[in-house]
Amino acid sequence: HPQLDSFPTDFLWGSASAAYQVEGAWDADGKGPSVWDNFVKIPGTTFKSSNGQVAVDHYHRYQEDVALMAEQGLKAYRFSIAWSRIFPTGKGEINQVGLEFYSNLIDELLKHDIEPIVTIYHWDLPQALQDEYQGWESRQIIEDFTTYAKLLFDTYGDRVKYWVSLNEQNVFIMHGYMMGTHPPAVRDPKRMYAANHIANLANASVIKAFREGGYSGKIGPSFAFAPAYPLDCRPENILAYENISDMSAHFWMDVYAFGRYPRIMLKNLEKMGLLPEITESDLALLKEGKPDFMGLNYYQTMTVANNPLDGVGMSGEANYTGEKGSTQESGMPGLFKMVENPYLERTNWDWTIDHQGLRVALRRIASRYDLPVLITENGLGEFDTLETDGTVHDQGRIDYLQHHCLAIQEAISDGVEVMGYCTWSFTDLLSWLNGYQKRYGFVYVDRDETSEKELTRYKKDSFYWYQEVINSNGQSL
Ligand code: BG6
Repeated sequence: HPQLDSFPTDFLWGSASAAYQVEGAWDADGKGPSVWDNFVKIPGTTFKSSNGQVAVDHYHRYQEDVALMAEQGLKAYRFSIAWSRIFPTGKGEINQVGLEFYSNLIDELLKHDIEPIVTIYHWDLPQALQDEYQGWESRQIIEDFTTYAKLLFDTYGDRVKYWVSLNEQNVFIMHGYMMGTHPPAVRDPKRMYAANHIANLANASVIKAFREGGYSGKIGPSFAFAPAYPLDCRPENILAYENISDMSAHFWMDVYAFGRYPRIMLKNLEKMGLLPEITESDLALLKEGKPDFMGLNYYQTMTVANNPLDGVGMSGEANYTGEKGSTQESGMPGLFKMVENPYLERTNWDWTIDHQGLRVALRRIASRYDLPVLITENGLGEFDTLETDGTVHDQGRIDYLQHHCLAIQEAISDGVEVMGYCTWSFTDLLSWLNGYQKRYGFVYVDRDETSEKELTRYKKDSFYWYQEVINSNGQSL
């Protein structure tokens, strides 16, 4: 691809995970329970009642996993810290063993020249904070989250240069408080917008603390961005596209980057009686929380069309992150409805496959926010087959990643500053709601929903493919 710019020499070729999805050891060494530990016990919440009690046992096998990362040549590994491993009840007494676990993991990575990218919050809220003050619905969490983050900065800041504050605030807030499919399983838009505002304040407070503490390195949130397309050029469909863009993208990213909500959304929420309490000092704090980069979790795009006032409403699982299947009839009357994009194929979980959408996402972030982008997640969740000889032929994943990597290179050539690319995921892991059958990794982990088996690791074909990409700094694409 001679017409394209090369990847920067310090490009972070990486991969990612989250504590609850890989660690297991859910109650080991003083760890307190998280809301996810309890939520999965409620019948019907997850596929075949799958849970993260053992997950892929990364807590006990991190050295083996890091050795595999080193063999592949990873430049960066993004992982999250389980808050309740550090503070079993969310605050107060520190669990030194928990603190040590991540310290050891960081050292192990650095020993192999792998840059740690640490996510401070990837959804596993300490249950104690949910019980005491309803977690994200109380402003008390701003202080507790900041105390926890500062401890991480103080403990690991000498070794960690990249921090992700909140992972996919849009997803955990919408699933948790509107669709009721994540803890605390609330279905109430008013409470959702209130909790979301508090999460914005907590995010800004942590970034502000990072700046004030004078730590070196960079910090930003990771946003689940599913760029929207209008169905066609009919003006009413363009308007639907404007609506979804404000509601699903600007409503979060404007707050991160500019410290303010989009005015169309404010008016909208006011009309619907859903506007949260936003004080002058809140606005001042939001302004102080400007990130160094936008973390981008990209999986798919969504397509929208006009939806009359008596049109289709939100249905069950559907939402406007585009993340729950693109073919479901759903929408907001008078604003937009989701429609099928006839030009795109879909995964077995009904997510559109759209590598050009990644270039679009990168371009939109660069143009609107003028921030560098760290791609913190992207990958293909699919069934994989372990052959009797221990191989896994995941050509579909290779094709998917290949196209997405080229889309990144195109975006770089367009002028977007892309810091790195973390695929989702390094090893197979627990998909929050879809069990162990929906696999994302370069490394197959032999377990399923009913049996942990031996949890043996096997390198998939994609493992070797990415090894070559990293080794050639993208020249092999
Ligand atoms: C993102 C999350 O939403 O998507 C990950 O940050 C998650 O934790 C990933 O696993 C894939 O989603 P799913 O539903 O396929 O597991």
